[in-house]
Amino acid sequence: MFFPIDKFHAIPTPFYFYDVELFRRTAQAALSEAQKYGYTIHYALKANANEKLLRLLSGMGFGADCVSGAEVQRAIDCGFAPQGIAFAGVGKRDDEICLGIDHRIFSFNCESEQELEVVNELAKAKGTAAQVALRINPNVDAHTHAHITTGLDENKFGINLWQLNDVAKKVQQLSHLKLVCIHFHIGSQIAELEPFVELCAKVNELQEQLAQVGVTVEHVNVGGGLGVDYENPDENSIPQFAAYFATLNRHIKLRKGQQLHCELGRSIVAQCGALITKCLYVKELQKKNFVVVDAGMTDLIRPALYGAYHKIENITPQRNSKKVYDVVGPICESSDVFSKDVALPQTQRGDLIAIRTAGAYGEVMASRYNLRQLPKAYFSDEV
Ligand code: LLP
Repeated sequence: MFFPIDKFHAIPTPFYFYDVELFRRTAQAALSEAQKYGYTIHYALKANANEKLLRLLSGMGFGADCVSGAEVQRAIDCGFAPQGIAFAGVGKRDDEICLGIDHRIFSFNCESEQELEVVNELAKAKGTAAQVALRINPNVDAHTHAHITTGLDENKFGINLWQLNDVAKKVQQLSHLKLVCIHFHIGSQIAELEPFVELCAKVNELQEQLAQVGVTVEHVNVGGGLGVDYENPDENSIPQFAAYFATLNRHIKLRKGQQLHCELGRSIVAQCGALITKCLYVKELQKKNFVVVDAGMTDLIRPALYGAYHKIENITPQRNSKKVYDVVGPICESSDVFSKDVALPQTQRGDLIAIRTAGAYGEVMASRYNLRQLPKAYFSDEV
């Protein structure tokens, strides 16, 4: 990722900076690897719903994975074809479902029998039929952070395995639904490919099980979750798409004519974004040194919420000697810490600091706590 530092001095901090060239290369790499096997990628808008980035992705032919009516609307406004939109989420409101029905989206990924009944009723009232997917909780451990693991029995997501046959039979009786897909998602920031191998085995087993009760579908959606390298953003700026898709291809048994879908979010967008902030104060105390920056947990909540690591760099032209600092924000919460004990070049008031790998779940999770302004976005091809 390249930082045009001279240009940055004219922009009020903190702000998100996106390297558009890296973004395009990453998205293209994902697409090319998926296309080798004829797979479809629905980009997960929840990772980053920035309009410019969405327009680039829709122009390249990505589908969309949405988790709210507003995301469905944003996807459509940014050029995604409704027939490529999957709408997931454990709590869809009626008005959100109606929006999806009106646009004839690809699938409602339904998570309970009751939800299926509601979608059926709403489609019936509109004199149409809705395409649905059963979101199945496969009880596969993604070995990732507890807050972002989703495919275990104890998680709120999906239809549990013991309910599956009954729910699948039930869908077939609902006259205003067309079951087109089975959907899975085991978690996010999955660093190893092994959990995906396990997922594929589970999908194969469940396809057999469903076929025995007379249920077959045209599409299989394995969700998202491919991780990125937060430690080495420059060495591994493009995630391991080739290995990911090859793993799916090697282990999943698709039935004749079946189409495979996935919903990558983080891996498409994380490495091309950084949160740029300025050092306000340096506090050198007996036991610790602090760099107080003007970005806080309101701009990037991942370290405070998940204890997530983001690489921090002082991008002001370098001074030689290094010092160890805690890099903290201005919010009145002791969890407003970006990183503890980071070795940085001696830092001074006014220095620019980049918090790396912030393109995913950064800007979209910003809040106005303490009545702060939401951070703005700037792009490498516009500054
Ligand atoms: N599909 C479904 C059903 C999902 O729940 C998610 C993410 C994705 C796809 C996209 O997963 P990805 O490829 O981005 O891993 N805020 C957390 C991450 C939450 C992920 C939620 N679901 C974070 O900052 O780490």
